[in-house]
Amino acid sequence: MSKKSRIFVSFLSATLLAGTAGAAALTIALPTETAVYKPSALPGYELVQRNCMTCHSAQYVASQPATSPRTYWDATVKKMKKPFGATFADADIPAMVDYLTKTYGTEPVPAAATVTPSAPVVMQK
Ligand code: HEC
Repeated sequence: MSKKSRIFVSFLSATLLAGTAGAAALTIALPTETAVYKPSALPGYELVQRNCMTCHSAQYVASQPATSPRTYWDATVKKMKKPFGATFADADIPAMVDYLTKTYGTEPVPAAATVTPSAPVVMQK
């Protein structure tokens, strides 16, 4: 390696190192978590996590208007099964609709079902 190219290589590694240090100091503010379902003590919470995460995140649910009544959630859950092809049991539908209506729709969350997460919600890989 000539002297000239050695100088170039050390310049290059110094530049790369500086670049890495810059990236380490970068702070990223994440948007509010909408990919996961809101925690709840309602039995439907566990069911939506099991049945509603296979095709899309909770984003679709979170973006529905808060004015959506029980009839809307009932029709939406049934639509996921037919025609969209979800494979959950019919027996799971009433509890999921109840959770969705009270968490994302027009009905209030019963005080007993309110959950305050003690730690940030972490998505499982
Ligand atoms: C078999 C795959 C599948 C499963 C499982 C599934 N969905 Fe969906 N979902 C879809 C598809 C496909 C769409 C439409 C996406 C689009 O229009 O781009 C959708 C859209 C939605 C929407 C947006 C509104 C709408 O009517 O399109 C909501 C809300 C929703 N899903 C809720 C749920 C809930 C709640 C569950 C669990 C009960 C669930 N999904 C499970 C496939 C699925």
